[in-house]
Amino acid sequence: MTERTSMHGQWSSRLAFILAATGSAVGLGNIWKFPYITGEYGGGAFVLVYLACVVAIGLPVMIAEVLIGRRGRQSPINTMRCLAKEAGRSRVWSLLGWTGVLAGFLILSYYSVIAGWAMAYVFKAGSGVLQGLDGAAVGSVFSALVSDPVQLVFWHSLFMLMTGLVIARGVQSGLERAVRVLMPALFALLLVLLGYALTSGGVARGFDFLFSPDLSKLSTGAILTAMGHAFFTLSLGMGAIMMYGSYLPQDASIAKTSLVIAGLDTLVALLAGMVIFPIVFANGLEPGAGPGLIFQTLPIAFGQMPWGGFFGTLFFLLLVFAAWSSAISLIEPAVAWLVENHDMGRARATLLVALSTWFLGLASVLSFSDWAFDFSFLGAQKENGIFDILDLLTSNFMLPLGGLAMALFATWVMRRADVVEELAMGDGAGFRGWYYLARYVTPVGLVFIFLNGLGLL
Ligand code: PHE
Repeated sequence: MTERTSMHGQWSSRLAFILAATGSAVGLGNIWKFPYITGEYGGGAFVLVYLACVVAIGLPVMIAEVLIGRRGRQSPINTMRCLAKEAGRSRVWSLLGWTGVLAGFLILSYYSVIAGWAMAYVFKAGSGVLQGLDGAAVGSVFSALVSDPVQLVFWHSLFMLMTGLVIARGVQSGLERAVRVLMPALFALLLVLLGYALTSGGVARGFDFLFSPDLSKLSTGAILTAMGHAFFTLSLGMGAIMMYGSYLPQDASIAKTSLVIAGLDTLVALLAGMVIFPIVFANGLEPGAGPGLIFQTLPIAFGQMPWGGFFGTLFFLLLVFAAWSSAISLIEPAVAWLVENHDMGRARATLLVALSTWFLGLASVLSFSDWAFDFSFLGAQKENGIFDILDLLTSNFMLPLGGLAMALFATWVMRRADVVEELAMGDGAGFRGWYYLARYVTPVGLVFIFLNGLGLL
């Protein structure tokens, strides 16, 4: 049995890994992004494709990514190099680690800006300025925020600072404990909101929008985006889950663990959708409103329900925590690599990565005001220049291509016997089912969606 240990430490148990990986997966992707892109791409059919992608593509890739990580036990760049060598293949595979680090850096640069919006809303909800507003008034509060770069830079800086602090101290100590309490709390609060949404008068239309697929509305751009979102929301394809897998104890079952994480992540996204769309329809709002959707709908709900100020503050606070535990996983691979290869302390490595990410984030800050420009992408109208470009580039291309490479690596490059050993689930139907999916179905599906999305099919 080949067993390496990670120089960066290890999770205390399988549960700790589940919590951390769920902390990475559940974030702005579920609560902010899923509803707004579902709104933009027309609802039910988009949701259906997204769910199919989670099962047929996301889950097999997640198992591949965790197993690669646990076998290599280093940062993704070095893990890929080491395992390629072990299999007698070219070191070019470490490129996959590099593109992952780059994707994490690009994603975090704008992710932090959106997390900053949520931070601003913690205070808005707490101070009562959202109380009793109608849809139009809530909309103007949001526009005022995003067109004020000074405020946005402040919140973006604060969020990057918070992320840097946890990373500098090492992922395991702080994160494990925080996620254990906050994730269940976020979940409970979503249920409270669901209770409100169910009585808001928009349930029938909201649920219809989400759950009755009209396949004729499905554009090629929608299919590509739904697949890209499956990767984004599960934190796949850039090495975050590989990195966390490298801290996973040897005796934990990778397949079962992945199933739990993907299940929880999907549940949170669907809950968020079931909360937002009834409110959208009950108040005559536009489902395709774009990245501001949750900030233009949820405050209406908080403004009308008893204890709204309290629930609103708590909700945005938990959203910030969810974003925080995702952000950490976005830069951990880069920091771990600097520590491994450049003999840097964690603190210096973190400073370097966090500062550059912060700097690039300024472009996204300005995408909502001075630098905004329109363009259309595979049938969707986008208006927020560099922010949209970074998001489309990473979610729709870099993450799925990274995931494709991981599925291929685990099933074509690594020796089958090594893979059987690492997954430790025997060589029965379960293993074969996954192996067959990851070796054939997932790659073919991915390539098909790419070619289709690019208009080549
Ligand atoms: N999965 C996170 C979310 O849904 C975002 C993320 C993407 C985190 C890629 C890590 C890697 O918010």
